[in-house]
Amino acid sequence: MKIVLGVSGGIAAYKAPELVRRLQDVGAEVRVILTPNAARFVSPLSLAAVSKHGVIIDQWGDSERGGVDHIELARWADLLLIAPATANIIAKLAVGIADDALTTYAIAHRAAVMVAPAMNTFMLQHPTVIENVERLRARGIEIVEPDSGLLACGDEGAGRLPDVPVIVERVKARFAARDLEGKRILVTAGPTREAIDPVRYISNRSSGKMGYAIADAAQRRGARVTLISGPTSLATPAGVELTSITTAKEMLDAVMQAAGSSQIVIKAAAVADFTPSAPADQKIKKQADRDEISIAFRKNTDILSELAKLKPRPFIVAFAAETGSLEANAREKLAQKDADLIVANDVSDAAIGFDSDENEVLIIGRDGSQSKVERASKFAVANRILDAVIQRLHG
Ligand code: CTP
Repeated sequence: MKIVLGVSGGIAAYKAPELVRRLQDVGAEVRVILTPNAARFVSPLSLAAVSKHGVIIDQWGDSERGGVDHIELARWADLLLIAPATANIIAKLAVGIADDALTTYAIAHRAAVMVAPAMNTFMLQHPTVIENVERLRARGIEIVEPDSGLLACGDEGAGRLPDVPVIVERVKARFAARDLEGKRILVTAGPTREAIDPVRYISNRSSGKMGYAIADAAQRRGARVTLISGPTSLATPAGVELTSITTAKEMLDAVMQAAGSSQIVIKAAAVADFTPSAPADQKIKKQADRDEISIAFRKNTDILSELAKLKPRPFIVAFAAETGSLEANAREKLAQKDADLIVANDVSDAAIGFDSDENEVLIIGRDGSQSKVERASKFAVANRILDAVIQRLHG
């Protein structure tokens, strides 16, 4: 991996030396170009030291050396990664302005481009910024979406440069082998909702992030992915075919319909185990003389067990969300559901539980084999789960 890292002048530029180090850890060679403003946020000397190469800031280069740096570099590079990317550089990339070393290089560059916007939320939401980001995306440039959280300016919202491991994982994915080419994968994600009456339902706290990350990662590795999802607020990953459902029954029907043509089924969804036996067709009203209400529930069909009965059956990955005795419960669930692999996580830990961007899981195979994936972004964990699936499919 030969990467040109372009750093523009946002506060997140301070993460650049760490980004260079972590990219090198995964085997990348990195050359750095700074905009003049970036050089006010991060020391060119530190970047030269970690990258072990001169850092380019001046568009006109070193006149004594001859040669035009940016053309030489463009022959060498496999990827231009711009992180952080300010509103200014995004606008320049969108229209082709080349008025400093980085934007000039961007026009000479021939290989893939990845851009990680980072700025204040209000700036990120400005119509021109939105429009410019979309122009880049339409040109095939990969956008690493900013994270939400507390920003340097004290505001809260989207705009933070994602943590370095998240960016590194995206770069790795870009260079990853397309080892799922030709495979059809069915992924389920999110919660289901079971109606109590026309305005109320029972559901669970699943955000769908793990399943969406798996669908995204599998698609990037060449698979044809169908994602069957309960209600979530997430964007459908590019290239993934989405079927939206609401109830467990709808999920069962959609899964059984799609399963026949899938070689691998990954069931990350948190399916409701029970549904109200007789949902009311009118809104249930309060009654003055009753302080309690009971609702009768009946069991939903276990989708995994139905899948396991198919002949020929797909390779089945189950999930186990547990709040204690993780390994023992997961092993029991694996056997009970007759799955090929189970991915267990402890949802009582807030850092990796529901709605978190990170996860830490135990992957247990039918053959008893077990591996632990330490805490990492859900996208990174998704890739480790897919590694485990591929390893067992071939084994
Ligand atoms: N699952 C399913 N159909 C259901 C319920 C769950 O296919 N009706 C799947 C989930 O998608 C997940 C796995 O079963 O892959 C385990 O879900 P979980 O809720 O942890 O387990 P349950 O079977 O519900 O067991 P329990 O609630 O007793 O922990």
